[in-house]
Amino acid sequence: MIVRNPPSLGTVDTGLRDAMGASVGVSCETCHDPAHPDALARKGEVPQDFHGGISVAHGELGCASCHAPEDRTRLRLADGTTVPMREVLQLCGQCHGPKLRDFSKGSHGGGRGFWDRSRGPWVRDSCVACHAAHAPAYPLVMPAPPPNDRFLPRAGHEELAHD
Ligand code: HEC
Ligand code: HEC
Ligand code: HEC
Ligand code: HEC
Repeated sequence: MIVRNPPSLGTVDTGLRDAMGASVGVSCETCHDPAHPDALARKGEVPQDFHGGISVAHGELGCASCHAPEDRTRLRLADGTTVPMREVLQLCGQCHGPKLRDFSKGSHGGGRGFWDRSRGPWVRDSCVACHAAHAPAYPLVMPAPPPNDRFLPRAGHEELAHD
């Protein structure tokens, strides 16, 4: 199984575009030197405009629940060990075990590639391709009219409804 992370993983978006139209990101090491780690400030005390104005609403979690204080290019697991950002499934899975189990069996998160694994790999999207790590809750949406179907009466068109 191949798990694809978004190309922007672990970078701060600058809002700029390169010549190919892709967004330009800044990596954590640009500002955070792992050789000179600072203790993490408490949630809310750091001006987040350094980070493109992120705001975190994921239960009551603070930054250090997920980011390693000593090396911010890495993620911190609950037992204190750290993993590279690309191993984000391990981070999510330790709190969302049933979802990671469903994901590994293919009943959550979709997939592409080959059903017959002897012919090619199964390609999956990582959790953060679909869920925003900092604010995973689904926004409420306004209900919209149903799609038009030429074989069904159209909403709001009385004359068709009485055919
Ligand atoms: C443009 C500079 C810049 C970049 C790039 C940057 N940071 Fe920061 N970050 C800061 C500054 C400044 C602080 C506040 C001082 C500190 O705690 O080191 C900070 C603080 C933090 C904190 C502590 C926040 C708190 O409220 O306790 C975390 C966690 C963090 N950064 C993670 C990251 C990660 C992960 C990346 C890369 C994906 C990153 N930063 C990229 C400038 C930056
Ligand atoms: C639930 C775990 C979790 C918490 C809590 C969390 N982060 Fe993150 N953060 C991640 C993951 C995973 C990524 C990489 C995902 C991506 O880039 O799409 C990330 C990405 C980032 C980035 C890169 C830019 C971006 O928006 O993706 C910065 C900067 C950052 N985090 C800083 C922080 C700071 C500062 C805090 C606390 C105020 C914090 N994070 C809280 C998991 C978390
Ligand atoms: C340390 C534990 C922890 C970690 C790590 C964690 N989560 Fe969560 N997550 C929670 C909690 C607690 C809630 C419930 C928040 C609430 O009810 O407001 C939650 C809620 C969610 C939701 C549901 C939001 C909703 O309102 O329906 C999604 C989706 C989600 N997390 C995805 C992720 C992803 C993706 C990652 C990895 C980047 C991750 N979580 C990492 C603890 C965690
Ligand atoms: C291809 C997109 C996609 C991927 C990849 C994905 N999810 Fe989801 N996830 C969804 C959608 C859509 C929903 C809402 C419908 C549902 O509950 O299945 C959801 C719902 C959730 C919820 C909320 C469930 C609830 O009952 O409220 C959690 C938690 C979650 N996902 C965690 C994860 C984790 C952890 C991963 C990675 C192992 C992951 N997801 C991968 C699309 C995705």
